[in-house]
Amino acid sequence: MDQQMIRMVPIGINVVMSIFTFFLTARLIPSLKETFITANLCGQDMSKRDREKKIPEALGVVCGCTFLITMFLFIPVPFSDHILKNAEFPHNEFVELLAALLSICCMVLLGFADDVLDLRWRHKLLLPTVASLPLLMVYYVNFNSTTIIVPKPLRYLLGFSVNLGILYYVYMGMLAVFCTNAINILAGVNGLEVGQSLVIASSILVFNVVELFGNMWKAHLFSIYFMVPYIATSLALLKHNWYPSRVFVGDTFCYFSGMTFAVVGIIGHFSKTTLLFFIPQILNFLYSVPQLFKLVPCPRHRLPRYNPKTDKLNPSVTIFKKSELNILARLVMWIFRTFKVVDWQEDSEGMVTCNNLTIINFVLIKLGPLREPTLTTILLVIQIAGTLLAFVIRYPLASVFYDV
Ligand code: UD1
Ligand code: MG
Repeated sequence: MDQQMIRMVPIGINVVMSIFTFFLTARLIPSLKETFITANLCGQDMSKRDREKKIPEALGVVCGCTFLITMFLFIPVPFSDHILKNAEFPHNEFVELLAALLSICCMVLLGFADDVLDLRWRHKLLLPTVASLPLLMVYYVNFNSTTIIVPKPLRYLLGFSVNLGILYYVYMGMLAVFCTNAINILAGVNGLEVGQSLVIASSILVFNVVELFGNMWKAHLFSIYFMVPYIATSLALLKHNWYPSRVFVGDTFCYFSGMTFAVVGIIGHFSKTTLLFFIPQILNFLYSVPQLFKLVPCPRHRLPRYNPKTDKLNPSVTIFKKSELNILARLVMWIFRTFKVVDWQEDSEGMVTCNNLTIINFVLIKLGPLREPTLTTILLVIQIAGTLLAFVIRYPLASVFYDV
């Protein structure tokens, strides 16, 4: 068999296992609904007329578990050739696979703990950092390459490459924190958490397939092994989470997804490209900064406000006294108002009503009230447009900055 074929066999097995996992997960989720409600793991859908109905929450844990089981069963497959032929065993590749799974497994556990215990925001930053430690350790042992190539326009200042040392590990840890939380704060509309994660995963998969025939094929093959079962389990979840949601995904799912993307980005050496697929999440994060850093009051929920009369969603708002804002908050909000990216209403007594700063509400202030599935679809189209932009930046534009 030639080299190309040898690469294809494990992918084939991976795809078959993933299809099986899809059907398993799709059946498992509805059958576990009652168990979750009995355990009081449920929430109310705030954008429906019937708010009394209990919707089981944190079903992302089912998805995470079926993903992990599939991957555990898959572990011997890429190494079967070495095992059967008794050839020299690639211990470094093996440990990468194990550490990647350990980090994801740890994140599913910590995410589930968050759903059960309702942790505070500072814990949400700590958990992904802790879960990424096994991975960073393996990165240290296997590569420890902390040198980055400087983009062409900056080379006259910094030279061809810069060794970031420990800072590179800080960057990788922060990548895990960002990927997990960025998905979690772009949420609150049926199907959005899973939908955006599926677009990101598919984008990574397309990128891997394109790169599979290049020099770095091993890293991309590694990523494909993770992305295919990830997509299968998430599709099964989306089936039940799409409007009208029968289950909620919980923070477990956001952590599980973000960590999976960070893991393949780090081990596959394409963390910058991974970040490119997060353009809407980056914009949502930047737009959210005034509320996340408490410059402007941030209510517990920022999801859109439901109008039962029209069955449409309106932007949700935060209300505060203008005089309570500090100088930095005033400056930032002045910039936002100048660029007309917020809906800012001020009354004669200085009380301000401003939309909550998420791109979900931004879409609503620009397009007017929308039905929930329409809003989710528009946000997913934005996500896909982000991916197309990412590919333009990654391929044609990259030659402006790097020798590719
Ligand atoms: C994040 C957001 C919060 C948003 C929430 C919605 C920040 C800082 N936090 O908080 O603004 O309101 O996600 O998930 O931006 N829900 C629905 N419909 C959905 C999904 C969720 O009504 O389609 C509600 C349900 O009541 C569910 C709850 O949101 O129980 C879950 O919220 P949770 O994931 O705990 O919120 P956070 O992640 O802390
Ligand atoms: Mg959440």
